[in-house]
Amino acid sequence: MDLDRPARRLGQDDLAACQRLAEDREWGREDRKWRFLFSVGDVYGIDDGNGELAAALVSTPYGGDVAAISMVLVAKRYERRGLGGRIMRHAMDNTDTKSFCLTATEYGRPLYERLGFRSVGLCTTYKGTGEGPYKRGVSVPAEAADMPAVHALDIEVFGADRSRLVEGLPSFCETFRVVRDETGIKGFGGVWWNDDRAVVGPVTAQDAETALALVEEIVPAGPIRLDIDHRHPELVEWARGHGLRPAFTTTVMEYGAPIANDPARLFLPVAQALG
Ligand SMILES: CC(C)(COP(=O)(O)OP(=O)(O)OC[C@H]1O[C@@H](n2cnc3c(N)ncnc32)[C@H](O)[C@@H]1OP(=O)(O)O)[C@@H](O)C(=O)NCCC(=O)NCCS
Repeated sequence: MDLDRPARRLGQDDLAACQRLAEDREWGREDRKWRFLFSVGDVYGIDDGNGELAAALVSTPYGGDVAAISMVLVAKRYERRGLGGRIMRHAMDNTDTKSFCLTATEYGRPLYERLGFRSVGLCTTYKGTGEGPYKRGVSVPAEAADMPAVHALDIEVFGADRSRLVEGLPSFCETFRVVRDETGIKGFGGVWWNDDRAVVGPVTAQDAETALALVEEIVPAGPIRLDIDHRHPELVEWARGHGLRPAFTTTVMEYGAPIANDPARLFLPVAQALG
């Protein structure tokens, strides 16, 4: 098979091929997530010349500061031939940001290290059954008038301008709530459905008490997932206390200029794919 074709920018028409590639690696179809990634990010792929994709990835640039790399996939039958490295270099050359961030599986980590990414933390995915939402009386459903304050808090905590992503959150999320205070908002939190499991995130808040109240007021009944950075033991405690179990651990990595974020107030990502 000729795998020398240059990487190309993919469009929504390539969604089904991306999903077939993901399924080849035993990842879910993640329809809602892929559609959101196509709407906020740049998707790249390498054709295998036989009507399928040999490789794909998503680069989601947030202004000129940071881009989140995700969905790095090479079909099993084409692995260890340099395609992973080639599509990563292509995406990085075509993304005009000072830094990159990603969450690496064990498969991906050596590849990213070779490209110059450094490890900055660990993230464990907890899965279980939610029994919420609990009524704590702390948060309210977000309204359009809250969004400028959500955006401002997100920039301050994430360290980059994610305006397109933030604007999309109220419709992407099943539930999206804010905790208001006299100065604006103390935090925001959302839940969205990925296949048949609810992902709890984003949760960004000024303090752990607000973050935990948000988690409890957004967590639905049914299968749930939380991607918890090891810098948040209070969330680990919450997850274990609610019967969730660790499923797998990934490495949080960065490349380029240090990212001016505040991990202490970034409680849960939107998705590992987006930070
Ligand atoms: C991670 C992944 C994308 C890597 O793709 P890949 O195309 O195999 O990556 P590369 O070929 O560039 O590099 C992989 C290895 O092959 C080696 N390699 C590259 N070209 C080679 C060649 N021509 N001949 C032999 N080996 C080669 C690399 O040196 C590297 O070796 P190492 O892992 O021992 O350091 C792929 O394994 C995958 O899709 N995994 C499942 C999904 C996943 O976990 N993705 C990462 C998400 S963070």
